[in-house]
Amino acid sequence: MSLLVLGATGTLGRQIVRRALDEGFQVKCFVRNFRKAAFLKEWGAELVYGDLKLPETIPPTLLGITAIVDASTARTSDLYNAAKIDLYGKYILIEAAKKAYIKRYIFFSILNAHKYSEIPLIQMKVIIEDYLIKSGLDYTIFNLAGFFQGLITQYALPILDNQTVWITDDIKSMAYMDTQDIAKLTVRSLSSTKTKNKILPMVGYKSWSSIEIIELCEKLSGQRSKISRIPVFILHLLRRLTYLFQWSWNISDRLAFTVVLTNSDSLNTCMSEVYSLLQINQKENERLEDYFKEYFSKVMKKLKEINYKSTNQSSRKINNSNF
Ligand SMILES: NC(=O)c1ccc[n+]([C@@H]2O[C@H](COP(=O)([O-])OP(=O)(O)OC[C@H]3O[C@@H](n4cnc5c(N)ncnc54)[C@H](OP(=O)(O)O)[C@@H]3O)[C@@H](O)[C@H]2O)c1
Repeated sequence: MSLLVLGATGTLGRQIVRRALDEGFQVKCFVRNFRKAAFLKEWGAELVYGDLKLPETIPPTLLGITAIVDASTARTSDLYNAAKIDLYGKYILIEAAKKAYIKRYIFFSILNAHKYSEIPLIQMKVIIEDYLIKSGLDYTIFNLAGFFQGLITQYALPILDNQTVWITDDIKSMAYMDTQDIAKLTVRSLSSTKTKNKILPMVGYKSWSSIEIIELCEKLSGQRSKISRIPVFILHLLRRLTYLFQWSWNISDRLAFTVVLTNSDSLNTCMSEVYSLLQINQKENERLEDYFKEYFSKVMKKLKEINYKSTNQSSRKINNSNF
């Protein structure tokens, strides 16, 4: 089976490429920057130029492709309106997929998205989900919550660096999942007819609140955290302010997203149907405790080495100056 992966340079997309290659799939990556994507080529994937903002670049990338895994989304750093990528780019991609007789289209949405369709980024997901379902293509839609990998920059790094960790007042919990496990389930679903034309959740084994994650990081790193709380009303206010300026629409959309997450019920659901369809034992998946344990032990080892080198260098300097 020949796969086209969109978003292959992203947090989830790269894990999907890695897993698909390991399992013997032929993988093409739809990328807009070949230099940034060079590591994917080193892994054995083929790179094809495509930019969701540029409709004419989309159809040629589907030549010889059996299935599409779309893990792309607008970057926060991109200055234009996310709709160009997450809405219009996806319409074109789905239409091109129909013409190219693509056998399976995998799309990633957000858990409980239909509850928050007033939020622009989520609304786009809901529109594309509906468009894909009505397209006549065979699809699988996975509804995600959050990724372990995102927690490193949000919590682990600031705690290690003695920086402030920002959290909101009204904290709800979320069932984060390792992107390597999401990739494993996604790639498995490509070979299963049982996941065809299904909307399935893809969440971790347990929900975590910000405070629980911070406590885990403190325990494993031996460091105390500095926590600052942002009241949710400030986020609402910032969102309204940023929406006044076109250049900050992207920021406004992201803030809207944060507000939803803080106001929602716990982002979690039962995964038993998915595990049974894919015949995977949930216990095979990484737990957040183990993911962080490995991360902190690697960082601590590195810090010890750096400390050891700098102590050795300064004692050598002292010894040299004694002569
Ligand atoms: N992160 C989460 O916690 C979370 C939660 C729920 C759902 N999801 C969904 O999961 C999927 C993967 O998310 P992620 O966090 O892994 O994404 P990410 O790390 O932000 O990566 C986004 C990817 O999309 C690509 N992209 C952006 N604009 C593009 C364009 N104009 N043309 C072609 N490619 C473009 C980026 O390429 P460049 O490297 O060139 O920028 C990158 O590969 C997305 O559908 C997202 O909505 C994520």
